[in-house]
Amino acid sequence: MKITVIGTGYVGLVTGTCLAEVGNDVLCLDLDQSKIDTLKSGGMPIHEPGLLEMVQRNVAAGRLHFTTSIEESAAFGNVQFIAVGTPPDEDGSADLQYVTAAARNIGCHMTEYKVIVDKSTVPVGTADKVRAVVAAELAKRGTDIPFAVVSNPEFLKEGAAVEDFMRPDRIVIGAEDVRAIALMRDIYSQFNRNHDRIVVMDVRSAELTKYAANSMLATRISFMNELAILADKLGADIEQVRLGIGADPRIGFHFLYPGCGYGGSCFPKDVQALIRTGLENDVTLKVLQAVEAANEAQKRVLLDKITARFGSDLQGMHFAIWGLAFKPDTDDMRAASSRVLIEGLWALGATATAYDPVAMQESRRIYGADARLTYADSPMSALKAADALAIVTEWKEFRVQDFAAIKAALKTPAIFDGRNLYVPSQVREQGIEYYAIGRR
Ligand code: UDX
Repeated sequence: MKITVIGTGYVGLVTGTCLAEVGNDVLCLDLDQSKIDTLKSGGMPIHEPGLLEMVQRNVAAGRLHFTTSIEESAAFGNVQFIAVGTPPDEDGSADLQYVTAAARNIGCHMTEYKVIVDKSTVPVGTADKVRAVVAAELAKRGTDIPFAVVSNPEFLKEGAAVEDFMRPDRIVIGAEDVRAIALMRDIYSQFNRNHDRIVVMDVRSAELTKYAANSMLATRISFMNELAILADKLGADIEQVRLGIGADPRIGFHFLYPGCGYGGSCFPKDVQALIRTGLENDVTLKVLQAVEAANEAQKRVLLDKITARFGSDLQGMHFAIWGLAFKPDTDDMRAASSRVLIEGLWALGATATAYDPVAMQESRRIYGADARLTYADSPMSALKAADALAIVTEWKEFRVQDFAAIKAALKTPAIFDGRNLYVPSQVREQGIEYYAIGRR
């Protein structure tokens, strides 16, 4: 099948590459010439395990192509995936200008039946807007070529996106047009082996499903984060509580890990956007408002613990920070808790040295050459001259540590662990103060 993917960001690139991997002929469009140049020359604009090799394999096989030409991309695919960015507006609602621009371009250039697929995370009602934009373009041209608009949300996790796409737990297809549903089933048949994972529903329900999934997961995290704060006060251990409740199959163990807040491109944005959609429809999503507020507070939890220990004037103090990315296996620092910590330390007069296996370049891009934040080339060298250590991301390489060496390196042997990496008694036995999230 001939498929166009519009937007070579995270979602678009993974989608296009994985669709090529199973034998489709895929053309990826991006208006950013430098991104397309990077991809054409065998480079990779994002960090995602396994993606570079897959891109190279499919480019070499002649199934995956890149272009900046709107005309070419609109003509190419019978199916046109829109996977452009939907950055949050000031008020938290998703900015749809790139989605509508993509729809306009398709309507402007298409010459035969097209299935237009919303792959970006877009508010409920966007498919209707896309349909109206395409219809208006066709009307301008004095033609009424048939087309269908489908909602096909993605559930990819950064760091595991290729795996998630190749082995999905569900494939949500929101469509009403019979021909479009058949084409979508066909596209996903390669990913739908052994048992049927395709859930076909109406377009609006598919759009809402994406927000509902992320909001439910964010709710679990904020719930556990609040319980962890309570556990700290009560002298209970949240890890024991997690095991105790997760064993109930109605609850389950996933996404019950308390920490220093959730970040990334999805949870914060999607929770805010769903709250906004609610308000626009006279529905106050009170649970989600609390989820969002609790997470904002949770991103400051390490700072709170640091000031409780050292006082609120940190002038002249220097902290080691392990982890900058919003989670392991990515260099993404969007809405990362590390940023709240770094900026909070600065505001209180402290400086920091950070180590992250892949996100230091991204951090340099965000913060530039600011003398208040320096970088180390290993976890241990980040401790040099540091008063104490704060851990923000649970990279595997932080898990096993030589605590005697950490103690010797820090001026005050104290670890503020935002991801509960260690057994508290084992750290404390070494003479290190250990402040974790809800741990006894
Ligand atoms: C998420 C969804 O999981 C995915 O299905 C959707 O398509 C996009 O959003 P992602 O943002 O890549 O994926 O990361 P995820 O692994 O879900 O983690 C999000 C954040 O929650 C991270 O900051 C992580 O540290 C935090 N988290 C996750 C917790 O604090 N506790 C948990 O138990 C799980």
